[in-house]
Amino acid sequence: SSSALWGGRFEGGPSAALAALSKSTHFDWRLAPHDIAGSKAHAAVLHHAGLLTSDELAAMREGLDRLAADVASGEFVPAEADEDVHTALERGLIDRVGPELGGKLRAGRSRNDQVATLFRMYLRESARAVSGLVLDLVDALVAQSDTQFGVAMPGRTHLQHAQPVLLSHHLLAHAWALLRDVDRLRDWDRRTDESPYGSGALAGSSLGLDPSFVAHELGFSASVENSIDGTAARDFVAEAAFVFAMIGVDVSRIAEEVVLWATKEFSFVTLDDAWSTGSSIMPQKKNPDIAELARGKAGRLVGNLAGLLTTLKALPLAYNRDLQEDKEPVFDSVDTLTVLLPAFTGMVATLRFNAPRLEELAPQGFSLATDVAEWLVREGVPFRSAHEIAGACVRECESRSIELWDLSDSDLAAISPALTPAVRSVLSVPGSLASRSARGGTAPDRVREQLDAVRAAVAAG
Ligand code: ARG
Repeated sequence: SSSALWGGRFEGGPSAALAALSKSTHFDWRLAPHDIAGSKAHAAVLHHAGLLTSDELAAMREGLDRLAADVASGEFVPAEADEDVHTALERGLIDRVGPELGGKLRAGRSRNDQVATLFRMYLRESARAVSGLVLDLVDALVAQSDTQFGVAMPGRTHLQHAQPVLLSHHLLAHAWALLRDVDRLRDWDRRTDESPYGSGALAGSSLGLDPSFVAHELGFSASVENSIDGTAARDFVAEAAFVFAMIGVDVSRIAEEVVLWATKEFSFVTLDDAWSTGSSIMPQKKNPDIAELARGKAGRLVGNLAGLLTTLKALPLAYNRDLQEDKEPVFDSVDTLTVLLPAFTGMVATLRFNAPRLEELAPQGFSLATDVAEWLVREGVPFRSAHEIAGACVRECESRSIELWDLSDSDLAAISPALTPAVRSVLSVPGSLASRSARGGTAPDRVREQLDAVRAAVAAG
């Protein structure tokens, strides 16, 4: 007979095509260590409820420990006939402790509450690992911000030169976005800190088993309030997939900049040899493949989220087999970030910035025009007129292909009597940067504070 967990009311085994469709061991096997931990906790509550003697509990634990060791070593693997991780591990336990004792463990639990619990355990562990990798990337951004402190660059809006900013200010903007993702995972973990074990198939357990005992054994603060919700809810999966997608999207925004910055036209950065690739035909090529893969994988992470939400949409309570489709997308998101983030961090950590080029471009494209307008405002000119006058300066410069600081005293006076030679004090990048000294601004003192704040957030992370 087959090792299926539900043979009793069936005359024969499942058709081969059904078994092939139904099977999930090729992806849910990664939950095996958590399933065994769940089984050990479950054995303990069966004992508390008088359903296992002390000797039986000891034998069960010993068998589960041996099974765990055999799973870890690869000695025990799912067989062709095993439907899922739970089926395979029950077979493994029965092999080790015999059908009499092995057959007692399933009392009072269902694969529905089992899988909901294991999936939470796995994702909580994975989210902590992903957070660590994101914090490594933040570290690399902080290190670059520190090394490049003081270097100005052209800040952009609409990809056009806007106002000069510190390169460190720009890099830290990416760090803050990533720190919010880490914070999202922490927040998500607090919500996911409830164990569905003991919910049974959907209605709860009748055997006097204590769900909070199992919850605490498995590292949860509490068990779920509602057994139907416990077995049917997958918002914790979708939410994790969202944060993983958001991390991918935030990384892709850095990636896109690196791709641009490494072009001949920008020449803002040089990629380290070990973190870039060549071309099989063009000998001169040095390609930003890591950044491109990051950009590409963001699409995949978003797709995983979209697929998951689509599976959950309109699904009636409680458990439906559709829910077996919840695992692969988010496993893929975890695996994707696990390979992507270390490579991306290495690339960022080894970027070489072309500081003279960044500095040279910072004031170009009339990026100091706002400083002229704001200087006029400090001189008592209403901003509306100040904007007009500064705009007239730009128009004049553009028609003569010169920069703002090339305007002579008489040029300035001809544009507006308010433009005295004193305006030149703000026509410099350091002056412009220093003037943006309010909280959050790009003035070096403020950016120094930010750098310390990001470091503190990483240390707390
Ligand atoms: N392998 C299933 C899943 O991942 C759990 C099994 C529940 N199966 C069932 N027929 N109730 O969702």
